[in-house]
Amino acid sequence: MLLDRILDFSHSLIKKAVQDGDFVIDGTCGNGHDTAFMAELVGESGHVYAFDIQEEAIQNTENRLKEKKLHDRVTLIHGTHGPVHEHLRSEHKNQIQAAIYNLGYLPGSDKSVITTPDETITSVKNVLSSLKKGGLIVLVVYHGHSGGREEKDALLEYVSSLDHKSYHVLNYGFINQKRTPPFILAIEKH
Ligand SMILES: C[S@@+](CC[C@H](N)C(=O)[O-])C[C@H]1O[C@@H](n2cnc3c(N)ncnc32)[C@H](O)[C@@H]1O
Repeated sequence: MLLDRILDFSHSLIKKAVQDGDFVIDGTCGNGHDTAFMAELVGESGHVYAFDIQEEAIQNTENRLKEKKLHDRVTLIHGTHGPVHEHLRSEHKNQIQAAIYNLGYLPGSDKSVITTPDETITSVKNVLSSLKKGGLIVLVVYHGHSGGREEKDALLEYVSSLDHKSYHVLNYGFINQKRTPPFILAIEKH
């Protein structure tokens, strides 16, 4: 298939944005796939902040990072991503190059523990104020589960309202699939 699938596209955007030495955020680390991917990209001199409200997710991410010997370049935060800026080291404030969020629930776990519209938007706002010019936020929006539609609608409304003089906002998704396929929202600060 010529067109990138959703997760491939999210990674290709992050890969374009992130270089050795960058400081980045995984707002929903889950099983740690995106955290490990970004930890590879930032190299030894960069840093990743990874959040999750579930102990199981933090544990899974830590195990994945240890296996790959990437744990030294990651701060794992067992807590909500809303006040994300409060966890950044002072030298990393306003220096964030990229952030990724995979919304929804942890695959294979409790489907009632989900990201929520208010907390996700608060987090995105806080990351936007810490983001460098040329920085990028990628949101992978899963919305087929209970509560997903409300988050999708609130996010679309919020990102559509961002000032075009400061941000480019992209919506990438397949529009002829059955059910409710995930899609990507990406925000570039310019
Ligand atoms: C779709 S999963 C993330 C998958 C992950 N990117 C991976 O690579 O496996 C969504 C995660 O968001 C977490 N989550 C839900 N609300 C959150 C919040 N307010 N702050 C941080 N994490 C949250 C869930 O616990 C769940 O692990």
